[in-house]
Amino acid sequence: MNTLDPGPLGDPAPGTPVPAEKGVLIGDEERAEALAAPAAPAGRRARRDGAEASAQPGVATTGDPSQPVVRIRGLRKSFGDLEVLHGIDLDVHAGEHVVLFGPSGSGKSTVLRSINLLEEPNSGSVCVDGVEYGPGLPGEEPAKRGKPIELRRKVGMVFQQFNLFPHLTALENVALPLRSVKGMKADDASRKAAESLRQVGLLQRAAHYPGQLSGGQQQRVAIARALSQDPKVMLFDEPTSALDPELVGEVLRVMHELAEAGMTMVVVTHELGFAREIGDLNVFMDAGVVVETGSSELFDHPTDPRCQDFMRAVR
Ligand SMILES: Nc1ncnc2c1ncn2[C@@H]1O[C@H](COP(=O)(O)OP(=O)(O)O)[C@@H](O)[C@H]1O
Ligand SMILES: [Mg+2]
Repeated sequence: MNTLDPGPLGDPAPGTPVPAEKGVLIGDEERAEALAAPAAPAGRRARRDGAEASAQPGVATTGDPSQPVVRIRGLRKSFGDLEVLHGIDLDVHAGEHVVLFGPSGSGKSTVLRSINLLEEPNSGSVCVDGVEYGPGLPGEEPAKRGKPIELRRKVGMVFQQFNLFPHLTALENVALPLRSVKGMKADDASRKAAESLRQVGLLQRAAHYPGQLSGGQQQRVAIARALSQDPKVMLFDEPTSALDPELVGEVLRVMHELAEAGMTMVVVTHELGFAREIGDLNVFMDAGVVVETGSSELFDHPTDPRCQDFMRAVR
């Protein structure tokens, strides 16, 4: 991204209250809170009920509840001569929370990165929101593939590293892609960014620069940035791995709230306690294949020896 202008908000001194909307100063917490829409009720998980999920404000789900939001078939990926994904199948339904776990190097990040085409699969079907974005299975190349730019609007991604612009405030970090990717007007982008910061509990930090925020707060800004695009699905790649232990909880709490609000999520994590809480479908990967899947039962009673070994090692 090369559009780094701070936009109409200017370039205030760190900590200076910034107008997010006419007459409202971020930093004036009470008034700023009023700017954002009421929080989505922390209802029961929508799971596979697309109709229920789409009724949640701020939570985008697939139009057709019978269709998975993400449907992967036969996904293969090589780096040079080395094939690292050997044919992955995965369905993620609206409101469902899928946890990917397994040893380092097993291909978890590559699966996530293939879902939004940060990695181009060598073969396989990657269908998101009913549109094919993958190269297709051998002999079944799709007649039409969706554009990566459209795909990235549907898929929010949160990385281990927060990737925030250090010279932009929290609000600007969220608002910038709303302007540059979604083409929103500055006022609308600021309003939407403030709403997303509220959702992660950081509205009162909107005028702070990344350097003034803790790692946990920076990761919550990164979550707000992804969330602000109203994605159909959010992908999290070890979002707490770079954090000091005392900061992990606040990020998991925000993810928990998103899950409870019905967001469709795919989460790569080593936090198996958290995985047990939110994982509707838990997927154990090893050496580029899906070895075993299951509900939280999988953590107590893995059947495959590779999964058993892994569980023993992480306990
Ligand atoms: N850009 C790349 N170039 C070469 N090899 C890669 C690249 N990205 C990942 N790999 C290899 O692919 C395999 C799977 O990696 P990754 O998906 O990052 O695993 P995980 O996230 O489970 O740790 C590893 O062997 C890794 O070294
Ligand atoms: Mg990884």
